Order: sequence, then structure tokens, then C-alpha cells
Amino acid sequence: MSDTTIQHHVESRDVTFRVHRFNPQVDSKPYFDDYTIKLEKGITVLRALNYIKEHVDSTVTFRAFCQAGICGSCAMRINGISKLACTTQVWDELDRSRETGIIRIEPLRNLPLIKDLVVEMDPLVGKMKKHSNWVDSRMPEDEWGKKEFLISEKEFLTYDKATDCILCASCVSECTILRAHQEYVSPAVLLKSYRMNVDSRDGIHDQRLAGLVKDHGVWDCTHCYRCQETCVKHIPIMDAIHGIREDAIERRGTKDTSGARHAEAFMDDIAKKGKLVEATLPIRTNGIAWTVKNLLPMAFKMVLKRRTPPPPPLVKASKGIDALRKEFREMTGHVTKDHQKKSGE
Ligand code: SF4
Ligand code: SF4
Ligand code: FES
Repeated sequence: MSDTTIQHHVESRDVTFRVHRFNPQVDSKPYFDDYTIKLEKGITVLRALNYIKEHVDSTVTFRAFCQAGICGSCAMRINGISKLACTTQVWDELDRSRETGIIRIEPLRNLPLIKDLVVEMDPLVGKMKKHSNWVDSRMPEDEWGKKEFLISEKEFLTYDKATDCILCASCVSECTILRAHQEYVSPAVLLKSYRMNVDSRDGIHDQRLAGLVKDHGVWDCTHCYRCQETCVKHIPIMDAIHGIREDAIERRGTKDTSGARHAEAFMDDIAKKGKLVEATLPIRTNGIAWTVKNLLPMAFKMVLKRRTPPPPPLVKASKGIDALRKEFREMTGHVTKDHQKKSGE
């Protein structure tokens, strides 16, 4: 028998991790440190960071625990996108890198920085508390612990995917509105709120909904879909946001908040003209007094620059408006039927 040695060739190369550094006790501003290490294919970003911490620079600070995409603690921005370090392959990131052989590692955005790659989660937890992101049981207190409070499998399937959220805050980090307004409720909290509000065991649906439609709430979302594209668990966050909005209009009416009025005005325009009548949209949304107080200076500037939208009588219906109206009627008819079906269940 011949003595055969089987040799496995493992691809390896030098990789540079450009890591965001900031220690508030000694640094006046953040900076980046480069760490170049030899790595084999198949290594995750978290394992590479652990290697750097153990063998190169013990002061590099980051959070991690399960190393299996379960706890959510290792979320960070890798090559500019928020994701989990423990489920991200170094080789995949090398393919995505703008600078050959360099992987950029930064902390999540939209949460206060504590040190290096570690951010403060308290603002997010505070919003979860504010919006009661738990099932507030309808079961009378004297029955607690005596029997189970069951739901049907069919009901569970309606929020099954939402329960996958591991609170990693990647969606929070990518939210475009949060970058402008830190008070905004945030996509993760909207997702949790929706999940609690459709749970038949919950007893504070209306109270939670009333909080969600206030300023910096569900109506501030711009539908950019960034949160959903980023979600590390592929949760359809936008379905939750649309679900809360539909629920708000159904239960609280279209005159309830500026967000609901805006949605109604938007739908009206599309149904009638197939496009927006922008000149009157702010008035129909927020009323004359608000519009005069807040938008008059901008209106003057637009007049000077000759960029004012046309007055309503001059807004002509879009080409093919008859076909569009027919489609619009069909679409809204489907939505109404869906709602009737749901409420009849
Ligand atoms: S869709 Fe809404 S919640 Fe999601 S990132 Fe954009 S603004 Fe934020
Ligand atoms: S919704 Fe997705 S991205 Fe956002 S916190 Fe939950 S798991 Fe993370
Ligand atoms: S360490 Fe737990 S999700 Fe990455």
C-alpha cells in the first residue's frame, strides 16, 4: 500500500482591520488604528477581532457574547453597513471593501458612543419601556400561574417573524430619520410594538397605539426601507410599520394626527389626479395656521427662485389616469376586503 499524504490547501492572506478607536478618558476625538493579521478563509470578523484583542492590542474594546448570531451584542458597522461581527465572514467583506485588503470597523450609529466599538443601548431600552414593548396580560391577576394563556398557531404565525428580533440595533443604526431626530421612536421599537399590539393576550393595545401616533412616532417614518434591508434576521420591519399605520387609521380615524391626515390627502390626490397636488398638501395635513407659521419663509424663497408648485387648478391629471384610477380602486378594494376579513375572524 502506497503511503499517500492528503494535503488540504487553506487559502490565507494578510488582512488589515481599520478599527474605530475612542477612549473618552484620554482622547479628544475618535481616530482609526490599523491592525494587519494573517488569516485563513472561513474566519468571521468577530474571531479576527478576538485575535487582535488577545495577541495584538488588548485595549481594543467591543461587545460580544454568544458568537452564534443569537444575543445581538456584536453588532457594529463593517465596511459601512451595520451587521453582526460573529456571522460576517472576513472573505465576504474583502470582496466588498473599497480599499483592497482593508476592512473598516466602526460602532453603530444613532446611539451614544461609550468606547471604541461599544455604544450605549439605554436610549433604545428607554423607548421600549416608553412604548410598553411587552405583552400586558388581559388575564385577571388572580388567575396568573394557575393556567396557561394560549394563542392559536394561526395567530402566532402573524407575528412569528417579528419574534426573531435579537435587539442588535443594526436597524436603529441605519435609520435615516434617527440620524436627524434622536427622539424618533426607531424601527426596532415599532417592530416590537406591532408584535405586542397584534397579540390577543395583550390588554393595552389602544394605549400603546396612542403613544405610537404622537410626535416622533410611526408617522415620521419616511419609508426608506433601510431598516428592513439591514435587519440581520431578515424581518419584514416595514410590514410592522404599515400595520401600525393602518391600525391607527382604522381605529382612530383619518383626522387624528397630521400623519393620518397626510396619508389621507396623499391617497385623495392619487385617486383624483394620479399625482400629488403639492401646493395644498401642507395645508390639508397641518392646517392653515401651522402652514403660515412654519412654511411661509420657505414659500417666499421658492417664489423668488421660481420653484413654487403649480396651484391645484393647474395640476392636470396624469397620462393614463383612467387605467390608474381603475387599478387604484381595485387595490383599495383588496385592502378593505382584507380588513373586513381580519375583523370578521
Ligand atoms: S423605513 Fe422608516 S424606520 Fe426604517 S430606516 Fe427608514 S425611516 Fe427609519
Ligand atoms: S429588527 Fe433586526 S436589525 Fe433591528 S434589532 Fe431586531 S434583529 Fe436587529
Ligand atoms: S456575539 Fe451574539 S450575536 Fe454576535
